[in-house]
Amino acid sequence: MLEIGEHIGWAHGESQVYAARWAGHDVILKRHRERRKHVRERHGYETWSHTGLLPDLVHDDPGRLEMILARVPTSCALQQPQTEAMYRAAGAALRQLHDAAPRPLPFDDGRGDLHSLMHRYLPRAQGLLPDRQVRQVEALARTLLAGPFPPTVLRHADYTARNWLWDGKRLTVIDLEMCRPGPAVLDVAKMTNDLSQQENGATLVAAFRQGYGRDWTPEEAQFLGTVRAFDALLLAVWCDRHGDESGFEKMSEVLSRLLS
Ligand SMILES: Nc1ncnc2c1ncn2[C@@H]1O[C@H](COP(=O)(O)OP(=O)(O)O)[C@@H](O)[C@H]1O
Ligand SMILES: [Mg+2]
Repeated sequence: MLEIGEHIGWAHGESQVYAARWAGHDVILKRHRERRKHVRERHGYETWSHTGLLPDLVHDDPGRLEMILARVPTSCALQQPQTEAMYRAAGAALRQLHDAAPRPLPFDDGRGDLHSLMHRYLPRAQGLLPDRQVRQVEALARTLLAGPFPPTVLRHADYTARNWLWDGKRLTVIDLEMCRPGPAVLDVAKMTNDLSQQENGATLVAAFRQGYGRDWTPEEAQFLGTVRAFDALLLAVWCDRHGDESGFEKMSEVLSRLLS
């Protein structure tokens, strides 16, 4: 029934993504390596399918950690010119996802996640990034963990142009394998870091905010400022481990700028 075609995912050695045919339809086969990612992605589809922002989930096979998704006939937004219209649509979509999560969420404000990420990634950053920077990020992360957390939603948790499909008008959100509860504002940390290195980045952030439809509260803005440094360190380590040299350089620059 399933005819598997070419591998179209990223060469990062994690989930495998293939173009495929299923019952006469163009589909995507996504095979997770880790069960928890399959569970998270499935949970994302259960929570958000009704928004119309995701591809249709055609079939789920938890035993094989496989999902079959309708193939959206457009390319990844990252491979296209980054426009204000794209970012406005992405902001509006994120707001819909954040507003769609059932409330109250389980007793998890994302603090446990941040705590475990900190303990996993700070030791890995040692020797890779300047000692002074690692110590600064550790101090910032400890301050965050000791303070209040901004309002919590179900986060996408990997919300950048890599995980949007865009046809010039309509945006489809994919790759829910990281979704988890946490502060809404945390969903824009990675994207904001990426855009901070781009000439028209500030314009795109403004368009995104317009689409999202509300300003961050002072508490959220402060949280974002601090968490961006932690996110840049985390991604620098991830890029290094996955052989992405330019990604590592980019995040090192972001980190230096944020900590200067
Ligand atoms: N439903 C879909 N329709 C069209 N292309 C898709 C679809 N799902 C994934 N892709 C393509 O496959 C790539 C990898 O899929 P993704 O779910 O983001 O996996 P990964 O976890 O490896 O990033 C995407 O960037 C996109 O180009
Ligand atoms: Mg992806």
